[in-house]
Amino acid sequence: MLTTRRVDAYHALTVVAPGIAERFRPGHFVGVAVGGAQTSMLTRRAFSVHDVKPDYGGTVEFVFTVRGPGTAWLAERRARDTLDLVGPLGRPFPLPRDPVTCVLVGGEYGSATLFPVADALQQRGCRVDFVLGAISADRVFGALRARRMGETTTLTTEDGSVGMRGRVTDVLPGVIADVRADAVYACGPMPMLRGVTAVAVEFDIPVQVAVEEQMACGTGVCMTCVLPVIGDDGVTRMVRSCVEGPVFRGERVRFDDVGTIPFDALGAPGGGTRNAG
Ligand SMILES: Cc1cc2nc3c(=O)[nH]c(=O)nc-3n(C[C@H](O)[C@H](O)[C@H](O)COP(=O)(O)OP(=O)(O)OC[C@H]3O[C@@H](n4cnc5c(N)ncnc54)[C@H](O)[C@@H]3O)c2cc1C
Ligand code: FES
Repeated sequence: MLTTRRVDAYHALTVVAPGIAERFRPGHFVGVAVGGAQTSMLTRRAFSVHDVKPDYGGTVEFVFTVRGPGTAWLAERRARDTLDLVGPLGRPFPLPRDPVTCVLVGGEYGSATLFPVADALQQRGCRVDFVLGAISADRVFGALRARRMGETTTLTTEDGSVGMRGRVTDVLPGVIADVRADAVYACGPMPMLRGVTAVAVEFDIPVQVAVEEQMACGTGVCMTCVLPVIGDDGVTRMVRSCVEGPVFRGERVRFDDVGTIPFDALGAPGGGTRNAG
């Protein structure tokens, strides 16, 4: 491990991981082992990759907030500790072929994964505008960087401590209309993704969302991370967000049914029995 730093309310860890850095594409995440060799915390914790750099053969940075014992352990790591991580995992964000205008919407640390997306979009000549939100000012991640990179940056906080008081979905329609957005990219809590998707659907523009379902294995084996997603054929399948996601077309995710197996999903009592593959 190379560096640990605090960024407002968040911790950022940079790890020398040339194999991951080399294959990284925006939207990928890593699975990090926590607790050390004797731990009872068996499952890896998933973190979106925030940044990769060519230094030391390739470094990977991720940003996190302390939520439970695994992230508390990570927050105590120091430079030169060894960290066990696998990646890059998941399916990255698809990028447009043409130089279109994209609004990137991030909630809390969800913004972290959007900066590599912004980079890749700008390399393709796309215009990038940011909408970042959180509960309070110290939990808005990456405001400065967004202001440097984005054509415009709109901040929202629920307590009004920075930017507009309210949620990203309150300002998103105005931003989409002002910049004449062609596409939306979003990462953040599930209710936010649902709201962002509803706005994009209203404007009839594509929306790509990166979901953060609970994950145990991160590699497609355990089915902890499934959520109902409508396929090209109109059939709902329970898909694994760790391998078929975490990035999905927003309008394909049945947000109202997340956490359940809808009656009409493939394999469920009311659904078909076609092969889910
Ligand atoms: C794709 C993805 C990207 C993410 N990116 C970020 C990020 O950039 N920054 C950030 O702060 N957080 C991120 N998260 C959330 C992060 O993974 C959690 O905050 C972290 O796992 C919490 O671990 P903990 O031990 O501190 O908390 P706890 O809540 O104590 O533990 C959560 C962990 O328990 C395990 N678990 C939960 N449910 C089950 C189950 N039913 N069966 C088996 N094991 C289970 C999982 O490994 C889970 O990660 C992301 C999550 C996903 C899925
Ligand atoms: S986390 Fe195990 S299948 Fe997705």
